This record gives sequence, C-alpha cells and structure tokens, in this order.
Amino acid sequence: MTETWDPEQYEKFRDQRRRPFADLTARVAARRPEVVLDLGCGAGAATLGLAQRWPDARIIGVDSSAEMLDRARGADPGERVEWVLSDVESWDPAQVGAKVDVIISNSLLQWVPSHLKLIPDWVTALSPGGWFAMQVPANFNAPSHTLLRDAAMESPRAAALLPRLARGEAVSEPAAYLFLLAGLGCDVDTWETTYHHVLDPAGQHSDPVLEWTRGTALLPVFDVLKDERERADFLATYGQALLRAYPRTPFGTVFAFRRIFAVAHKYAGPD
Ligand SMILES: C[S@@+](CC[C@H](N)C(=O)[O-])C[C@H]1O[C@@H](n2cnc3c(N)ncnc32)[C@H](O)[C@@H]1O
Repeated sequence: MTETWDPEQYEKFRDQRRRPFADLTARVAARRPEVVLDLGCGAGAATLGLAQRWPDARIIGVDSSAEMLDRARGADPGERVEWVLSDVESWDPAQVGAKVDVIISNSLLQWVPSHLKLIPDWVTALSPGGWFAMQVPANFNAPSHTLLRDAAMESPRAAALLPRLARGEAVSEPAAYLFLLAGLGCDVDTWETTYHHVLDPAGQHSDPVLEWTRGTALLPVFDVLKDERERADFLATYGQALLRAYPRTPFGTVFAFRRIFAVAHKYAGPD
C-alpha cells in the first residue's frame, strides 16, 4: 500500500511527533557505531539528529516516499546522510556492504504488515553488540481511529475506503516483540507509553486532532477521495466527531496516544 506523504503536514506538531524518537533512541547505548540505519527515515530531521550524535558514523536513511526524501535531501546540503529510496519490504540490508551497528525504525512498522518476518533479517545484519530499536503507534482503538472507520462506513465510498483503513493488525503487543527479539539472541527492553499531548494551546486550529490525522491516519482516505467535494464532506463528518471526542480545554486539546517501544541489544559473543 503506497500512501502519498506530505512532509509539511507531517512536520506540524513537530515537538509531539519527535518525542517518541527521543525516548526510543535514549535507550540505545551504542558509543561509536560505524554504520547506522534509519528505516522509514521520513523527512530526515531525526536522522540528521543521529548524525550529530554519532559524528563519525556512516548514516543511511531508507524511505519509500520520494516526497519525504526530497525534503530530507534539502535539509542535508552537506550530504552527510546517504538517502535511499526503497520500500523496506524489498530492501536488502546486504546492500550496505558492511555489518550495521544500529538500526532505528521509528513510526514505520505499522505500515509494514510483514515486519515480524523482516526483523530477523535486520537483526542478522547487525554486528555483534549491535542495536535494533523500534517504535510503533498502538492507538488503533482510540477515537481518532474508530471515528475514522465510522466516517468511512457512512461514506458513499465505504467499499473503497474501509479495506484501506488501519485497524492495527500490523502492530503486535509489546510481549510479541520481546519474545521475537529475545529468541534472536538479544537483550530486550520493551515498554509502552501513553502520551497525553496537549495540542494547539494557542487555539490556532479549529480542529487540532483532525489536523494531526491529516499527516498520518487520513493519508489512505486522501488516496481514495481525490474529488474536492467528496473529501470536504468526509472531513466535515469526521471532524465534527473528533471535536466531540476531543473537546477543547482552556489550555488546549488533550490527545492521548499509546505507543509501543522495543530496543534490542544483540549478544556480543564471548569476551
Ligand atoms: C510516520 S513517518 C515517520 C518518519 C520518521 N521515522 C520520524 O520518526 O519522523 C513514516 C515514514 O515511513 C515511510 N514508509 C511507510 N511505509 C514504508 C515502507 N514500506 N518502506 C519504507 N518506508 C516506508 C513513509 O514514507 C514515511 O516517511
């Protein structure tokens, strides 16, 4: 499934979107990695942060969106990072030509249903003592998603929309990642966090949660509803429902968002 990513829309709510990456990578204790891979690197801001953290490392960002990678290249005039256009499902880590010391995958694997089968290949591509770190959203039963499915069900385009809307089937519970990675010879740190983001404290958006989902959950809807009128009708129905589910408070709109994290440290072998 190929969604059309809009880097500008995704980068709204930048602080809230970057927080999970910071929390994830804080648990990666690699000191002087030589090769670092960022799978689903998006517009590259976080990847460039990895380059600052590990200035001597070769850094590679892989993403399937040409729009996102254009933005990433624009943010990297010195060509510090190798930006690779590829779907991670077909991308072979052997292309790197060396063992990888750190693999990061932040907010990607919910879009990759086969990821439980891909993770073993990625861990194999790690050097002894290497790190694999992933974060996935786990909010598919939150109102932001259930109301999206309700709006799709009511839409005249329900038949085209419903099969494309994520129900979270691709995302497993924390224990599944723990057992998988431990079975691959790693020490594993798995946890979940529910962030209570306070969106739009300045009151600039009429519907801040709708604005948030325009950058992610709504992408499959936009791919189906190309007609402006059709799209506006859909957004009006969904937006009204969101306003009831996420009312504005005097300090902003509270948006609870559960996420799952796993950080695996590959066994380094006998001393
Ligand atoms: C939610 S964004 C996360 C971007 C970045 N990792 C971050 O933390 O800001 C998801 C990214 O995954 C990319 N993506 C989605 N499916 C992909 C796939 N199958 N292969 C490679 N990239 C994919 C999208 O193009 C998008 O840039």
